[in-house]
Amino acid sequence: MQYADPETLKILLVDDEPKIVNGLERNIGMMEADWEIEVAYSGAEGLEMLARESFDVIVSDLRMPEMNGAQFLEKAKVSAPATLRFILTGYADQDLMVRATGVAHRYLIKPCDSREVIDAIRQVYESRSLMLDSDIIRFVTETNELHINNQPLQDLLELTNDTDCDTDDVANMIESQPTVHASILHVSNSAFFGAGGQIETMREALHILGLEFVSSLASFELARREMNLPPHLHAMAGTVLKHCVETSQFALQMKPLIENPQFLSTLSSLSLLHDLGKLVFLMRQGDDYARLWKESAEQNVPLWKMEREAYGCDHAGIGAYLFALWGLPEALVQGVAWHHQPTKAMKDRLCPVSLLHMANYGAHKTREQSAYCSGELDAELAQRFSLSPDFHNELKRQSA
Ligand SMILES: [Fe+2]
Ligand SMILES: [Fe+2]
Repeated sequence: MQYADPETLKILLVDDEPKIVNGLERNIGMMEADWEIEVAYSGAEGLEMLARESFDVIVSDLRMPEMNGAQFLEKAKVSAPATLRFILTGYADQDLMVRATGVAHRYLIKPCDSREVIDAIRQVYESRSLMLDSDIIRFVTETNELHINNQPLQDLLELTNDTDCDTDDVANMIESQPTVHASILHVSNSAFFGAGGQIETMREALHILGLEFVSSLASFELARREMNLPPHLHAMAGTVLKHCVETSQFALQMKPLIENPQFLSTLSSLSLLHDLGKLVFLMRQGDDYARLWKESAEQNVPLWKMEREAYGCDHAGIGAYLFALWGLPEALVQGVAWHHQPTKAMKDRLCPVSLLHMANYGAHKTREQSAYCSGELDAELAQRFSLSPDFHNELKRQSA
């Protein structure tokens, strides 16, 4: 399957209000001269167009008479499964929005100008072009089980993207999700944070761990909870989560190496999210993926390399693409994409991508036994920053 070049995309805009949709068409057309933009004034008309020609992206209004945006996208998902589905929605449309769960890849909140629509589309396509293989897109776009537009997750992301958001808003949101709440309290009470058994409330957790860290942990938890896995695969998903938490803990030990304080919080989030792509494999490939874990350990070949051989893509690419779809910041998308091959995205100094690679390596190395082979310290990175393969133990000694 061939995927389009982001410079020449074909977009279908669907809205019953001619003034809005014609305005979008005109403005997007002016800003992106090489994009081909078609307009439909109803869901039925949109479906006719999809039957006749193929599009890269659909941007549909949610509130429309007769066939609403959720019903339209549901049908569009069947007739054009590889097309990205964006939905335009207002805050007043909460009831309808719930029905759009599972059919839209991404929500755009109205009022939303042409620039925002373009940026959202470009962000997804730019991350696509970073990935090696179009199989990634097939994997993620067709993974229905992982509700990437899961309502609480979307709410949380919107909340934390809002510059006015405060700790109380996030605490309230998380407290409405008991399992997420429980797992955040669990992590924040882990001995590592020096607060063993003392944190009782979400507000205290946010105070100690920071907003960014807690929201990433909550995102991870919400995504994991949405999965429908048999019990033995759930245990594997738990192993992935545990490894991510351990990576974030190791990342904190690397504090002395980190010059820019902003990098530390980016790194905390990245650590928690970096291996989420493994969960997509678990859902899509199930026992076949479990077998690959075993083989990776037996043959001592890094899991991501085996994934590429078996499925044509790896969990780093899948995770990055998923996060681009969710609208997460570019630094997170890039970090996840290249966490096994940091030199492909590395800057001169230690940046979040290379720091994540080191934290991931350190977290794997400090575990006695791993369910799969965990990969090596990138040789070029090690040489450039004079890192010994034993740097994780040196760090430990320094912080002791
Ligand atoms: Fe990984
Ligand atoms: Fe990892």
